[in-house]
Amino acid sequence: MGFHNYLVWFFIVYAVCKGPAVAKGLGCNWGTRASHPLPPNIVVKLLKDNGFDKVKLFEAEPAPLRALGRSGIEVMLGIPNDFLAPLASTVRAAEDWVQQNVSLYISKYGVDIRYVAVGNEPFLKTYKDTYKQTTFPALQNIQAALIKAGLGRQVKVTIPLNADVYQTDNNLPSGGDFRSDIRTLMVSIIRFLSDNGAPLTINIYPFLSLYADPHFPVDYAFFDGTSSSVVDGSISYTNVFEANYDTLIWALQKNGFSSVPIIVGEVGWPTDGDPNANLEYARRFNQGLVNRIVQGKGTPKRPNPPDIYLFGLVDEDIKSVEPGNFERHWGIFYFDGAIKYSLDLGNGRNLVAAKGVEYLARQWCIMSPEANIMDSNFPESINYACTYADCTSLGYGSSCGGLDIRNNASYAFNMFYQTENQQKGACQFSNLSVITTVDPSQENCRFEIMIDVGKHEQTKTPSSASSGIRSHQNSMIILIFVTTMMMWITIITSTTVVH
Ligand SMILES: *[C@@H]1O[C@H](CO)[C@@H](O)[C@H](O)[C@H]1NC(C)=O
Ligand SMILES: *[C@@H]1O[C@H](CO)[C@@H](O)[C@H](O)[C@H]1NC(C)=O
Ligand SMILES: *[C@@H]1O[C@H](CO)[C@@H](O)[C@H](O)[C@H]1NC(C)=O
Repeated sequence: MGFHNYLVWFFIVYAVCKGPAVAKGLGCNWGTRASHPLPPNIVVKLLKDNGFDKVKLFEAEPAPLRALGRSGIEVMLGIPNDFLAPLASTVRAAEDWVQQNVSLYISKYGVDIRYVAVGNEPFLKTYKDTYKQTTFPALQNIQAALIKAGLGRQVKVTIPLNADVYQTDNNLPSGGDFRSDIRTLMVSIIRFLSDNGAPLTINIYPFLSLYADPHFPVDYAFFDGTSSSVVDGSISYTNVFEANYDTLIWALQKNGFSSVPIIVGEVGWPTDGDPNANLEYARRFNQGLVNRIVQGKGTPKRPNPPDIYLFGLVDEDIKSVEPGNFERHWGIFYFDGAIKYSLDLGNGRNLVAAKGVEYLARQWCIMSPEANIMDSNFPESINYACTYADCTSLGYGSSCGGLDIRNNASYAFNMFYQTENQQKGACQFSNLSVITTVDPSQENCRFEIMIDVGKHEQTKTPSSASSGIRSHQNSMIILIFVTTMMMWITIITSTTVVH
């Protein structure tokens, strides 16, 4: 074969291996800040059933990682901000982290880890300068540790950043540049990522634009907007997602990085906890987004589309509500993997709900018909329930915001009862409540029943006086049992050896 033939072969092999140039498939964030998380194997099935082939985790939790082993799903593995300081201080700490949280899962469980996401929005304005000194050194140490572990090619580093790391001085994408307080740092980080063939990850939230500014044109937050557009030179933008993304492209270009790869690490729309967080808007936004992904559509300044990770897969009822009550309702699915709204995932394929979920008994805790709202224990009881359970659906403009005062109390009592796994005593509230088997849900307001996480049987907690003695007796019984077993095993083994 002449040199020419080799060349032809090279290109055929190259083309086959490289596959289509367009970014394919769907990515999703899998957060686990839930009082009753779905079992990891059910989540992995849910991801596969819905065609998600990429997932982003916020930290290296053993059970989700193991469930992702040999699933065919690519993983972006996050490192929480609290870890940045220790990882920045020594390469050794980074090596240990990579060994325990990356190498092990790749080699032992076959997890397809592709990225390590160092920190989570560490330069967010509200964090002030907390992570400013440690993020870049931590990134460098993790990169060094990956190379040392022989994973330098397979696993890339990145930092998921909030879109507030860049801004525009004239409200147009072409005015884009990095925030002045971190510009030098951003340039160093992007040069480092670029030198290591690693992508920049950005989280973009059109919902928050709308949430923050009552005069924000609603149309412009979605992808089917027509009435409002922003004209920037020869380009006319009809949605804030594209305008925001291109602001980043301009910022990169101005600082000498016109071709660094970008990943959209989080983008989505919540369904509850704010008047603009509702099923209709969330469906409208996410459908527009999924259509773009399916079509492989980029933006005017970067026609090559980025990989996109939707935020998020399921609702998380113990997330901090500091950003707003909507924070616990970003899921495409409810906390239990039930469908919130229909979404066409391309080729007429629709969302599929989680399968095999086991629930607690079909019973709810509600305000007793005999109880009086003037009861002196009433306000305190609701307050108690809502301190320990998630009442974010009760707020103004939320899915249960229209309930009257008695149903409102029922909702609060039920959330507490379910969150406490329907344990005995969790539906008492100074005799203001009763248990019912009639579903109190109304229209969009779901009175939930939690997933059975195996905690409802522990109702018989021994009272303090006798518990010491009882547990002592229990350990004696276990000790005797174990000893007997060991003796048996010894006898059996020795007989086997003789034969
Ligand atoms: C691995 O990651 C988990 C969760 O992020 C963390 O708790 C653990 O300390 C990490 N291991 C090492 C050696 O840092
Ligand atoms: C319902 O309960 C929530 C949480 O305690 C409270 O904020 C809201 O004002 C209540 N609404 C009504 C109508 O009582
Ligand atoms: C609840 O009702 C029971 C029985 O009627 C009564 O003995 C108890 O004192 C009541 N508890 C409260 C807190 O009102």
